[in-house]
Amino acid sequence: MIQQQYDTYTPEHFEVWKILFERQMKNLETTVTIKYIDGLQKINFHADRIPDFKETNALLEKLTGWHIQAVPGIIPDKDFFVLLSQKKFPATCWLRQMSQLNYIEEPDMFHDVFGHIPLLTDLHYCEFLSGLSKIALAHIDNAQIIELMSRIYWFTIEFGLKFENNQRKIYGAGIISSSGETEYSMSHAPVFLPYDVAEIFASHFFKDRIQNKYFVIESFEQLYNSLPAIEEYIERAAENLLNISAN
Ligand SMILES: [Fe+2]
Repeated sequence: MIQQQYDTYTPEHFEVWKILFERQMKNLETTVTIKYIDGLQKINFHADRIPDFKETNALLEKLTGWHIQAVPGIIPDKDFFVLLSQKKFPATCWLRQMSQLNYIEEPDMFHDVFGHIPLLTDLHYCEFLSGLSKIALAHIDNAQIIELMSRIYWFTIEFGLKFENNQRKIYGAGIISSSGETEYSMSHAPVFLPYDVAEIFASHFFKDRIQNKYFVIESFEQLYNSLPAIEEYIERAAENLLNISAN
């Protein structure tokens, strides 16, 4: 694991953060869940300041006991779920360049931090993450089970939508950090389905293109309450896989 080196950020980094932050806040004004805006304020994120993980962690600690853990980039599944089980959210601390404002191949801190961290102020959201990590860790050496768990993670934490006053709002970090996907997810083009664990387990996802469907939750409590159904499905899938390999 690494530490954020705050004094290595250059004026260009601050400018990139400011441009991305201001542009996305405009896009999110009427489209993101109120919990995200609340969270953003509670952890003091601003356009003119790249978040300092030490300060953010002190605030998060008091709210939900979660922390940001700086990582160099995408980490192995096991490390990822172990960190989540310790209430640590892995996040990169490098930022894209001015020439990459609209697209980068790997998640940078605008995705990891701006996209994910504000919702770590919500207890049900945090407990859902903890629950997912425990289920995944029980089957960490089973690639097929981890693939199923990544579908749940993908269609909720990364690309989830949520009803608020009968309107669909964004809570998935993959949408929050992308102006193109913010616009698309609010259009009439994709399919919107009610949150359904079995349906998600049966849904493939593609990392290299925009989503064609989104699952819409009623509340973060609903996510948390779906953990037993997720666990039951996973236990059954693991048993079936065992039976298949024994035959
Ligand atoms: Fe992410």
